[in-house]
Amino acid sequence: MSSAASLVESAKKAAAFQAVDEHLLPSHRFVGIGSGSTVVYVVDAIVAKGPDFYGPMTFIPTGSQSKGLIRAAGLKLSNLDERPVVDGQSVALDVAFDGADEVDEDLNLIKGGGACLFQEKLVAIAAKKFIAVAAVKDYRKQSPRLCTKWLTIPIEVLPLSAPDVLTRLRAMGSPKPAVRSGLPSKAGECVTDNGMWIIDAPFPPLLLPKDLSSSEDGSGKNAGKWEVSRLAQELLRVPGIVEIGLFHGFNGNQAVSLGQVGQAQKP
Ligand code: 5RP
Repeated sequence: MSSAASLVESAKKAAAFQAVDEHLLPSHRFVGIGSGSTVVYVVDAIVAKGPDFYGPMTFIPTGSQSKGLIRAAGLKLSNLDERPVVDGQSVALDVAFDGADEVDEDLNLIKGGGACLFQEKLVAIAAKKFIAVAAVKDYRKQSPRLCTKWLTIPIEVLPLSAPDVLTRLRAMGSPKPAVRSGLPSKAGECVTDNGMWIIDAPFPPLLLPKDLSSSEDGSGKNAGKWEVSRLAQELLRVPGIVEIGLFHGFNGNQAVSLGQVGQAQKP
């Protein structure tokens, strides 16, 4: 492993251990576990706390990868739809830990690099607290605006709608949206845990509310650029789009926090 890659790994590990130390409490009963390589260290950090700490907890995965991680670590596995119902409502998860592909100044996220975005969003919104673990010094992830480093928004679509969704995305200003192909060893499209496809849609860097000038016309666009929440709203209106990898507005009643440690700099 190159020294830059090993710095990234140690930053991810340090951020994951810090996030678990700060946000996983012995009183927690239902814990969401996201997807990706950083979450592997989240699970390591939970296991390092010992069975007396995590034994009473139940872990809810965001897809087949995290299901495998939970099982392999010997943690108690359940599922979103298996939570107990109290007063007609499924109990909230106490906390959910996940990774992120890009994070902006307002803590909006791009997720879905690993094609798990739909279940990741379901778990995130079912949790009282959502912790996106991304080492802030990881040069690949922190940007003032989304779509600066991670250039595309992953979008989960019903396969038969893909041609129409591609047309709509182009009309919305995405220059070259494309259906993601499978792993190098597999031919064909990348199929999600939900049997859907992923379209990766490039957009110019996304604006924050503070970027919109007072003369802005309310369209959510400014010089061909979209504001994050307006773009999210418009994308979710397109028939055939099941969910999008833009996670915005989580910085209000649900906390998003980032690991503050790790010093991985661009080589
Ligand atoms: C998967 C995700 C991941 O959380 C995201 O891609 C970050 O992954 P990593 O921790 O490997 O950088 O959204 O769909």
